[in-house]
Amino acid sequence: MSFSKTIIITGGAGFIGSHVVRLFVQKYTHYHIINVDKLTYAGNLENIQDIDGAPNYTFERIDIADSTAVQTLFKKYSIDGVIHLAAESHVDRSITNPMDFVVTNVIGTVNLLNAAKEAWKSTGMEGKRFYHVSTDEVYGSLHDGSFFLETTSYDPQSPYSASKASSDHFVRAYGNTYALPIVLTNCSNNYGPNQFPEKLIPLFIHNIKNNRPLPVYGKGENIRDWLFVVDHARAIDEVFHKGKNGETYNIGGHNEWTNIDLIRLLCSLMDRKLNRATGTSEKLITYVTDRAGHDFRYAIDATKIKNELGWIPSVTFEQGLESTIDWYLENENWLQHITSGDYLTYYDKQYNNR
Ligand code: NAD
Ligand code: TYD
Repeated sequence: MSFSKTIIITGGAGFIGSHVVRLFVQKYTHYHIINVDKLTYAGNLENIQDIDGAPNYTFERIDIADSTAVQTLFKKYSIDGVIHLAAESHVDRSITNPMDFVVTNVIGTVNLLNAAKEAWKSTGMEGKRFYHVSTDEVYGSLHDGSFFLETTSYDPQSPYSASKASSDHFVRAYGNTYALPIVLTNCSNNYGPNQFPEKLIPLFIHNIKNNRPLPVYGKGENIRDWLFVVDHARAIDEVFHKGKNGETYNIGGHNEWTNIDLIRLLCSLMDRKLNRATGTSEKLITYVTDRAGHDFRYAIDATKIKNELGWIPSVTFEQGLESTIDWYLENENWLQHITSGDYLTYYDKQYNNR
């Protein structure tokens, strides 16, 4: 088959990446989409088994920290674009094991930048794009009523956000130094189907269902700005196709919740879904020692992407949260395969005989 573009999406077996891969494979059947993923604990090919086998989809199991493997990949395919999501993404893990975050988030990103720079030096940069997906956590922690703008100074506070900030700086440096056609987005907290159950919302849905304690860090007063993952994927599509080279766009839901208010809402929705008496799930709330260096508030000002690219979220938080809960309750197998470790065998079962 001949395709109009070949695009690498890194981290496509993860939470957000799987939604981006699905959107691009289904919407742009004239693009060849190559999902590049190492399949760490967070990589789950079951997230995208519905598009496995699509004629415009290829999976490559590669560690982006392996520079030789990344260079070989860019020689194997004639790449027009990179949408880079692969990362170590959990703040708590970055506190116990920061070096993993340096290796994947910093070195992995620089390996991709180098490979793109080398490949596109000979073909020319025209029509090429390196899109780096980042987080609002690079801006640090808010303590007043202000919002993160694209011009807000970086002030990362956790090993995770420091590693993402570092990768953002390298991406911009390659744009400036080598004229690499780069674009970046910094997005707020995502929620939705397929999120690994170590993050707040899927973990708490799982625990409520199983009558397990809900470990609320500190007093539960920290604030996050929540966005439905499908809306993030839509924004990535807009920025990839219409964003300007060298620009950064903030993406957010204008949807701030203290953790405890969000957890109470989740508990009441779960009581209803599980036909439990009102107040049953709230009894599972357990206050535990706060996360070290816990950022107080994140809040995105998403005016630029709205004004320049016309993107706004398509679902309300109530709609998104309810459909998320439904998804986790209806997809018990997905969760069960994670708990049993079965999801880690998908690659060997599906790919080793191809
Ligand atoms: P995730 O942890 O669910 O998935 C990460 C994916 O990257 C996994 O499939 C994993 O196997 C893969 N990966 C990890 N290390 C790799 C390596 N060395 N080589 C190749 N693949 C590797 O993460 P997510 O929540 O989907 O986040 C995706 C991206 O979006 C990250 O860059 C993250 O910083 C950013 N982001 C996430 C959020 C959020 O709320 N989850 C918000 C804003 C930005
Ligand atoms: P998380 O989903 O880990 O995302 P992030 O740290 O990137 O914002 O956590 C969201 C918020 O919920 C954060 O303030 C930490 C808090 N939290 C808990 O209170 N208990 C938990 O068990 C987890 C995982 C998070």
